[in-house]
Amino acid sequence: MSATPGTEPIKFAYWVPNVSGGLVTSTIDQRTDWGYDYNRELAVLAENNGFEYALSQVRYMASYGAEYQHESTSFSLALLLATQRLKVIAAVHPGLWHPGVLAKLGATADHLSHGRFAVNVVSGWFKGEFTALGEHWLEHDERYRRSEEFIRALRGIWTEDDFNLAGDFYRIRDFTLKPKPLNTPRRPNPEIFQGGNSTAARQMAGRVSDWYFSNGKDYDGAAEQLHDVNKSAAENGRSVNFGLNGFIIARDTEKEARETLREIIAKAHKPSVEGFRDAVTQAGKSAQDGKGMWADSSFEDLVQYNDGFKTQLIGTPEQIAERIVKYKALGVDLMLLGFLHYHEEVEYFGRRVLPIVRELEAAREPATV
Ligand SMILES: Cc1cc2nc3c(=O)[nH]c(=O)nc-3n(C[C@H](O)[C@H](O)[C@H](O)COP(=O)(O)O)c2cc1C
Repeated sequence: MSATPGTEPIKFAYWVPNVSGGLVTSTIDQRTDWGYDYNRELAVLAENNGFEYALSQVRYMASYGAEYQHESTSFSLALLLATQRLKVIAAVHPGLWHPGVLAKLGATADHLSHGRFAVNVVSGWFKGEFTALGEHWLEHDERYRRSEEFIRALRGIWTEDDFNLAGDFYRIRDFTLKPKPLNTPRRPNPEIFQGGNSTAARQMAGRVSDWYFSNGKDYDGAAEQLHDVNKSAAENGRSVNFGLNGFIIARDTEKEARETLREIIAKAHKPSVEGFRDAVTQAGKSAQDGKGMWADSSFEDLVQYNDGFKTQLIGTPEQIAERIVKYKALGVDLMLLGFLHYHEEVEYFGRRVLPIVRELEAAREPATV
C-alpha cells in the first residue's frame, strides 16, 4: 500500500491508552490516563513528535487488568477530529462487526478526517468476551478464515460498485457504498492492518492485509516472521508492510532505564498476569502447530501484554535508536510503541530519540542520485 517496504524512513505508531491500567500489568506508578482529555492532548503531542499513526485497542470488558475501556472506533474518530495529520487505526473484531457496517462507518470517518482513518483487524484471543456477548467462539484457524473474508468484504465494498461476496461468514449482494472513502493512487482505500502472529495470520497477511503487526520480538524473532510474511505476500504477487511492537523505556542513563524495567516486573500484578497467561492459550498456542502470539512468552514477558520487552527498546536514546535502525535493516517498516508515562515520554522520544534515528538512517542509506 505504501511504497516498497523498507525504502522509506521508519515510521512510528503509539498504542492509544484507551483502556485503564496502562500498558503494563503492574502496580508501578503510571502517569497515563485512559480518558479522553488525556488522550486528546496525547494525540496532538504525538503528531508533533514524529508519530504518523496511533493504534486504538478493542476490549469489550475487563479481563486481566483493563477494568474500563473506551470503544475503539468512536474513540479513534474523536482523536482524528482532534488532530491534523495523525492517522488513527481502529481495532475491530470480525464476528462482532458486519463488514458492510464497518465499511460505512469507515467511509464517514475517512471523510471527516480527510483520509486518515485505518483499521486493525484482530481475530481475537479472549474467549470470555465472545461468550459473554453470546457469540460463537471459533477454533483458531477458523477465526482467521473469517478475518480473511472480512477483509476481502471490507476492501471490496470500499473500492467496487455492486460488490458481491458469497462467503461462509458474510454474504453481500450487489452492494454499492456511497460515498466511498477518500482514495489516492498511493492509498486506494483506508489502510488495513492486522494483529495476529500465528502461521494462519502470516498467510492471511500475504493474501489480503496491507500491514502485519507483530508482537514484541528480538532480531531473530522479527526476522523469522518477516521471512514468512514476505514469502506469503510474494506468492500472492503482493507486498505487505511490517509493524513491530516494542515497549520503550528511554532514559538519560541505561542504569535508570534498566531500573525502571526491574521495578515494573517486581511490581507485576501476579494474579492478572497469570490470568492473562491462561487466557492467551486460546491464541497462538491453540493453533494446530502451536506457533503464534504468546506461545513462548515467560511471566516477565507477559507483564507487557504484547511482549513489548522482548524488543529491548530499553536504555539511552542512542542505544534505542541503534536498535530501531537495526530492525529497519531487517525489513521492519514501523515501530509500534508503548510507554509508562505517555505525555512526558512521547515528548522525550520526539526530542531525544527520533533525531538520532533519522541521523543513523541517513548515514546508512546511500545517497540517491
Ligand atoms: C499489534 C496488535 C494489536 C492487537 N490488538 C488487539 C486488540 O485491540 N484487541 C484484541 O482483542 N486483540 C488484539 N490483538 C490480538 C489478536 O487479535 C490475536 O488474538 C493475537 O494476535 C493472537 O494471534 P495468533 O493466534 O495469530 O498468534 C492484537 C495483536 C497485535 C499483534
